[in-house]
Amino acid sequence: MERPSHRPEFTLVPRPRKLSPRPGRFRLDARTRLRVTPGAEPAAALLRGYLEPPTGLRLEHSDDGAFVLAVDPTLAGLGEEGYGLTVGPHGVLLRAARPLGLLRGVQTVRQLLPYETLSAAPRRLTSLELPGVEITDVPLYPWRGAMLDVARHFQPVSYLRRYVDLLALHKLNVLHLHLTDDQGWRMPVAAYPRLTEVGGRRAESMVGPAGSTRFDGRPHGGAYTRAELTGLVAHAARRGVTVLPEVGVPGHVRAALAAHPELGNDPERRLDVWTHWGVCPNVLGVGDHVLDFFRTVLDEVMDVFPAPYVHVGGDECPTDEWERSPAALARAAREGLPGPRALHGWFLGRIADHVVRAGRRPVAWAENGTELPLDCTVMTWREPGDAWAAARRGHQVVHADHRTTYFDYARSTGPQEPPAQPGVVVDLRTVHQLDLPPLTDRVLGAQGQLWTEFVTTPEHIEYLTYPRLCALAERVWHPARDWPDFHRRLTGHQARLRALGVPYDSPPGRSLGAAG
Ligand code: ACM
Repeated sequence: MERPSHRPEFTLVPRPRKLSPRPGRFRLDARTRLRVTPGAEPAAALLRGYLEPPTGLRLEHSDDGAFVLAVDPTLAGLGEEGYGLTVGPHGVLLRAARPLGLLRGVQTVRQLLPYETLSAAPRRLTSLELPGVEITDVPLYPWRGAMLDVARHFQPVSYLRRYVDLLALHKLNVLHLHLTDDQGWRMPVAAYPRLTEVGGRRAESMVGPAGSTRFDGRPHGGAYTRAELTGLVAHAARRGVTVLPEVGVPGHVRAALAAHPELGNDPERRLDVWTHWGVCPNVLGVGDHVLDFFRTVLDEVMDVFPAPYVHVGGDECPTDEWERSPAALARAAREGLPGPRALHGWFLGRIADHVVRAGRRPVAWAENGTELPLDCTVMTWREPGDAWAAARRGHQVVHADHRTTYFDYARSTGPQEPPAQPGVVVDLRTVHQLDLPPLTDRVLGAQGQLWTEFVTTPEHIEYLTYPRLCALAERVWHPARDWPDFHRRLTGHQARLRALGVPYDSPPGRSLGAAG
């Protein structure tokens, strides 16, 4: 017998905790009124914003409206993000203990509506039906995210707004924006305009993976304004998505060094914004002026991004320059460190302290051989066991294991795949098999990552992200690891992706990528 959740309209992704079909259907039309209780206004605004442009339905407020959105703090067991949804022929009741839960419930309503309601193309649908259903839903993990690297290839904020909306549809709640790297600096900092003026542009890009000898001869660049980022944060907040900014130190900083040579280990040396891929040997110097510079940068980051967490990078920091630098050797000795390599953890510790003193929580990539302060939430990416090890040490952990969550690896071994980061294939099933450490209060969740060395366009971003991010969204939301069930629901869900114009099944032309 077909299970109820496989009726086309119940092909919800991620799967709700409890779903039972009920008889009848609720008809939404020009007479439908919303009853919005105190605290439910943001959810009502979100729902109206989704419905009115494609359908013309306005869903005005009325105290006796049949479609009720209610925040009820006495509801037990729903936490911050859970919700209950009852749809019957005479009414709809969406309830949550917290406003955030209602925002998640609005996404379920959106998924229950006819697929074409999701389409950007306006069409006057005079009435819409929701299937009768009873849903009680809560997420498994509190951190359900996606990282997008806008440093290697810049994307305009208009695209980031769409990207956030796709995250929200899948009940993901963190957009991790990788804003700075060797190849580009996208974060505006009023005190240091050269960071974006100089660091925001590179002369050309390597063609093919790290070590290639070919370059494309095409300048690339871009940076955000403060107003654009503030607007993005507000857009995301209306959808219950937090924007986690990442400004990385002390490695992956060549764009900053191009703008400010005084931050480097040889202030006389002039470097360009890096045009290569791979791990850059140039890292920050360890003078007080460098720490002060990045404290100022982080103050601006924390001003623009109200997220409780701030990512300070910390990955892939070669120490060769420090080993040759008299100033770095003297710093290591003065700080009582065993040697210049320990400057990596020391530097991160100073920067993390600054973030903690500002009342935020620093996040850093876990790195082999570098002990991070316990204040740091760590993103573990190298080996699956790193997540367990970091949690045992006492860190909060976000799982970002590269073999299951890096979407810059190819989706399959097929000839249609665009050039991708070599060495590993991450297919849909691999993502669905994501092995998360047991849920404890230290394991916050997981996220997908898209590094964009070879990814220049929104179409390419979405081809690599979907449907793999659907599988990740499912694993962090629902405890079952039921591949056949997920796969059947995904077949229906793909109609939503199509209506939204997500090119999940159209590989971008090979010329877009790193043709080798
Ligand atoms: C990373 O992939 N360098 C975190």
